[in-house]
Amino acid sequence: MQKEDIRIDAVVNEFKDRFGCEPACVVQAPGRVEVMGGHTDYNDGFVMPTAINRNILIAASATQEDTATAYSRNFDETSTFSVIKPERSQDAPWSNYIRGVVDQLAKAGIQTPGMQMVVDGSVPLGSGLSSSAALEVATAFAVYEVTGQSLPGKETALLCQRAENQFVGVNSGIMDQFISVLGQEGKAMFLDCRSLDYQHVNYPAGTRIVVCDSKKPRTLAGSEYNIRRAQCEEAVRILKQHIPGIKALRDVSAEDLAAHESKLPEVVRKRARHIVRENDRVLQAVRALNHGDSAAFGDLLNESHASSRDLYEISCDELNWLQEAAVSVDGCLGSRLSGAGFGGCTVSIVREGALEQFERVVTERFRAKAGIEPGVDVMSAAGGAGRVR
Ligand code: GLA
Repeated sequence: MQKEDIRIDAVVNEFKDRFGCEPACVVQAPGRVEVMGGHTDYNDGFVMPTAINRNILIAASATQEDTATAYSRNFDETSTFSVIKPERSQDAPWSNYIRGVVDQLAKAGIQTPGMQMVVDGSVPLGSGLSSSAALEVATAFAVYEVTGQSLPGKETALLCQRAENQFVGVNSGIMDQFISVLGQEGKAMFLDCRSLDYQHVNYPAGTRIVVCDSKKPRTLAGSEYNIRRAQCEEAVRILKQHIPGIKALRDVSAEDLAAHESKLPEVVRKRARHIVRENDRVLQAVRALNHGDSAAFGDLLNESHASSRDLYEISCDELNWLQEAAVSVDGCLGSRLSGAGFGGCTVSIVREGALEQFERVVTERFRAKAGIEPGVDVMSAAGGAGRVR
């Protein structure tokens, strides 16, 4: 029996034990790694994420009540709330992602009925692999299954993003929810965060995605994330006076930025340089993949890491150690920090024949610096959310 089937069985059994009946459905929504495109999504820019084979499962049934009860196997906690007027929870913060989606669904015309849910996550929590977006998306799909009503994929992603922005209060971009809904097995996604047009792209043949976890808690991620957003907005406000018609850093070319960047305060100039060049790097990465130029693709990942470290300043020692150890291995095409930064994970693209050596070298070199073992996980590109039972 496949590992995933065993997990699904366990969730179904937990549901039966707790609620005394079979769940009406089990849905899944994947976490993600950000392969390219750091902090470009909220600048209307380009990103390249991949859905990973680590997900959130929800077993669910409707009830006649006007409350929803969710049990989290990861937290071993139950949270109950009104589906008519969901309120924010202080005691069970994880449930706010569920509550926020129920709240947004009602605003979009889909009233969640009373529900019983069991939630189980294989996306590591707090590692920057978007367990929260996966929980939001899984909630939307569970409600779709029990009501028979649904919204199209893009709208679902936007709705889940609004739940995170407005209910949970984290000002994230669209990437995480979008890939969790619309990922495709075996592929990376190239997404234009302004038009929400997207394409699926192939990885270089014979390579795997390796996610290394620094195990450093992302304590600064929230506050520094919002500061970066504000700095990008400041750059646009100033540049607008010199480059008419721009709405976001997405609209600024490298040439325009070079011509006008002296008007920006130094820190803001660094942030703008990162975003403008990172957008261009994502476009180049797509071209490299489409032309089978794996060396160029890998170099772009490494350049993205350097820029995230030096210009956007969202890296930390632990992420730099992982990245340096990764690229020292023959057969690692490239490596970079993934997601918001300040801890969490790196992503590396590694030739299949080099996986063993990669794990050994990265583990040894990281242990020598950090004094702890990193997580080293070979992952696969998964498909987007859906019903699994
Ligand atoms: C977090 C956010 C995303 C994106 C990344 C950085 O994961 O949720 O929207 O901004 O950081 O690229």
